[in-house]
Amino acid sequence: MRVAVIGTGYVGLVTASCLAESGNDVTGMDVDEAKIARLRQGEVPIYEPGLEELVKHNLREERLRFSTDLRDAVQQAEVIFICVGTPARPDGHADLSSIWAVGDALAETISSQQLVVIKSTVPVGTNRQLLERMQRRAGRVFDVASNPEFLKEGAAVEDFMRPDRVVVGVRTERAARLLEQLHAPFLRAGQPFLVMSPESAEATKYVANALLATKISFINEMANLCERLGADINDVRRGIGYDKRIGFQFLHPGVGFGGSCFPKDLTALAVIARQHGLPLRIVEAVLEVNERQKRVLLEKMKRHYGSLAGKVIAVWGLSFKPRTDDIREAPALVLLDELLREGASCRVHDPAAMPAIRRIYGERLTYCDKPYTALQDADGLAIVTEWPEFRNPDFALMARLMRQKVIFDGRNLYEPRIVLEHGFCYYAIGRLIPPAPLPKERLASAS
Ligand SMILES: NC(=O)c1ccc[n+]([C@@H]2O[C@H](COP(=O)([O-])OP(=O)(O)OC[C@H]3O[C@@H](n4cnc5c(N)ncnc54)[C@H](O)[C@@H]3O)[C@@H](O)[C@H]2O)c1
Repeated sequence: MRVAVIGTGYVGLVTASCLAESGNDVTGMDVDEAKIARLRQGEVPIYEPGLEELVKHNLREERLRFSTDLRDAVQQAEVIFICVGTPARPDGHADLSSIWAVGDALAETISSQQLVVIKSTVPVGTNRQLLERMQRRAGRVFDVASNPEFLKEGAAVEDFMRPDRVVVGVRTERAARLLEQLHAPFLRAGQPFLVMSPESAEATKYVANALLATKISFINEMANLCERLGADINDVRRGIGYDKRIGFQFLHPGVGFGGSCFPKDLTALAVIARQHGLPLRIVEAVLEVNERQKRVLLEKMKRHYGSLAGKVIAVWGLSFKPRTDDIREAPALVLLDELLREGASCRVHDPAAMPAIRRIYGERLTYCDKPYTALQDADGLAIVTEWPEFRNPDFALMARLMRQKVIFDGRNLYEPRIVLEHGFCYYAIGRLIPPAPLPKERLASAS
């Protein structure tokens, strides 16, 4: 099938390359000329496992091409996916200006036979508004479907290729058929293809994100409570997870969620609900708990050191989750801002996100290309993102490199006993850990 994908960010580029990989003829279009120039050379501007290979392979096979010209990109397409960004506006609403811009351009260009599909995450009712806007503008009938995307950054290609389910919101039988045909190669293990109204499809995406984020804030609050009460959240997690009604997924305590989806989608949902006179108390609490959780390592540091002024803190992991370079709303940003504000200096390492972090912080941080380099003369190590390479480090080497042996583990990566055996003070989230000795300067002031 001939397909156009408008917007070649995380979602659009994965969509375009996976659809090309399954034999479709795909054109990816973006307004970002530099991005398109790089993509044409087979250079993928984001870090996403497996994506560059897919892009290169399908460029070579001439099933994938890239353009900055919307008219050229959509001319031949039977299906046109809109994958542009829908970031949060300052008032919390989703900024739909890119959706409208694309819709207006499409209305002038496409025929009534070409199916438009919104893949971006948009508030309920956006599909209808786009359809009506395009029809008003062109004086012709169009068909607009919704196909929310559930991929996870860091496993985006895998998620697109083997989704748990595909949800489509359609108005016509023809749209359902076209979308089923396009998705059939990815549903060969029998996963469901769920057809519903555009409004239900739009709502499905927000409800899914709200529930997933709720699980995270819930377990974070419980972890904080366990810590106060002398229980261990890891044991509690095991204790609850085997209950089939509960399960283990998305119940890992940490430093809060970030990324380009949960924070903005929950905020938009909360704002919309308030406008409809139905405040979502749970969703609002989830956001509030999350903001607090982003500061949890900082609070532990302040309790440990007293003052952070002059301290050298190593930070491992800056992206909002492992296997991505995306730092949008990343908990690391809150930690870095606060550490700098308190007068600490930061030696940071991340396998993929350092260029993005450097664009924000410039020379205010020390960038280390190896995790161990970041530990040189550090007074403490904060682990913010659970990249696989941080899971089993050489504790003896770490102990030699650091000035003070203190680990603030925001992702519960280590067995406390092992860390303590190497002489570290170890702080984690909701774990039962023998009390850490106070640093020498605080012992002196306490006596
Ligand atoms: N990133 C995720 O994990 C994820 C998962 C599911 C859904 N979503 C949703 O998918 C949408 C896209 O997210 P993303 O992370 O890929 O965003 P992104 O910011 O990475 O990419 C958006 C792209 O759209 C391009 N763009 C903007 N206006 C355009 C226009 N008028 N014409 C053509 N291109 C235009 C931008 O240049 C950019 O390359 C959002 O609505 C997001 O909420 C994202």
